[in-house]
Amino acid sequence: MRPFFVRRSCGIKGKITLLGDKSIAHRSVIISAISRGKTVIRNFPANDDCLATLKALKDLGVDLVYRKQLAEVMVCGRGLYGLSSPLKKYLFCAQSGTTFRLLLGLLAGQDFATTLKAGGSLSRRPMRRVTEPLRMMGAIINSTPPSAGPPSAEKIEEYPPITIRGGDLKPITYRMPVASAQVKSAILLAGLYAGGQTKVIEPIATRDHTERMLGLFKADIKVRGNIINIRGGKNLVSCRRVYIPGDLSSAAFFMAAAAILPHSRLTIKQVGLNPSRLGIVKVLKRMGADIKFRVQGSGFRVQYEPMGDIIVKSSALNGARVRKEEIPSLIDELPVLMVAACFAKGETVLEGVEELRVKETDRIRSMKENLQKMGAKIVIRRRRGKEDLIIEGVNKLHGAKVSSFNDHRTAMSMVVAGLAAEGATRIDDISCLAKSFPEFLTTLKPLIQ
Ligand code: S3P
Repeated sequence: MRPFFVRRSCGIKGKITLLGDKSIAHRSVIISAISRGKTVIRNFPANDDCLATLKALKDLGVDLVYRKQLAEVMVCGRGLYGLSSPLKKYLFCAQSGTTFRLLLGLLAGQDFATTLKAGGSLSRRPMRRVTEPLRMMGAIINSTPPSAGPPSAEKIEEYPPITIRGGDLKPITYRMPVASAQVKSAILLAGLYAGGQTKVIEPIATRDHTERMLGLFKADIKVRGNIINIRGGKNLVSCRRVYIPGDLSSAAFFMAAAAILPHSRLTIKQVGLNPSRLGIVKVLKRMGADIKFRVQGSGFRVQYEPMGDIIVKSSALNGARVRKEEIPSLIDELPVLMVAACFAKGETVLEGVEELRVKETDRIRSMKENLQKMGAKIVIRRRRGKEDLIIEGVNKLHGAKVSSFNDHRTAMSMVVAGLAAEGATRIDDISCLAKSFPEFLTTLKPLIQ
């Protein structure tokens, strides 16, 4: 347990640079590993999730070198069919959902059996959304049934550990029931191994980093609106150098803090500005936040993902309505948006946020309970299986004893809430920050006024 105390601050000021985007980092190493040639990946983040992906790839026989001091990974690609059966009994994905789900897609194409194991909260996260399409493609998958509960006519959910044997895949057309970039990516990775064209149809567009990275490595992939077509059997070719833009989801905590703390002016350098991730910026701007971009010029750094600086100044916020179609573009930023909404004038309505229930923790519960302890007014509205959050701006919170629920994004959101609240806030355990952003506090502290 690592408790943490936060006190009120009047603002954050300065310039920061962040390590690379977690989602892009996972994809960069996985796709490099199955391409032909050597790839050097720069600005690779040193968080537990991305390290889990590196470790799992090594266990699959990939020759890679990670230099933490340089934030660099060098991967010797083994080609589409060059992975080998791990010597260990299982691959350990730690608590990384992206590692687990993307590797399931990759392993669906391998002609050997592998067991994926999860740590902590990941062993309670749903996997049927991935196993179902991969089975349709021909992968043989065994998973753990739920430990208790009455028999149900509904489809039974599946959880880690999962054993998968792949090879000989057939292409599918798959209309995804949930908007999930992890599920889409797993199918696209499996699609690289299917004989023919695999088509994925998204209900709402989600982050498109896999499509962009596959395009960069010369996969036969085409995107038309919410439909992605990928043709299997074609070798991927290394693009030799990849630079990962700063993590927009990590930047979001600083953006929200700078917007709500009265004397703030912050520049976040070289952040990923992929349109499928910019929901938080759009919504904060709609609420009245003063946020500007300075977009980078051309060059290899912007070869596949847009990148630029973000400049945020304090501003008076108003409540806003966020429609369910916008949710995937800010899914990981909803906890900190809930904090910002407490400091806005009027009501903020976040529609269709039920996916938050199946993140590292139930983030509807974690954020509602914590913020209510600090004086927030939050109501849940349920209708036809959907959940909306209604947050009434109270414009001030007071310090309290809150919990991270062992969830990195709840922990960082509560630090932001604590900076804006009167008095002191105690967060029970912030060791979970290592999952995505171990250097969060060392980045934040010098900015505090
Ligand atoms: C991610 C996709 C999102 C997001 C997660 C990372 C990814 O999950 O919440 O933190 O890298 O593809 P879902 O795809 O399950 O919505």
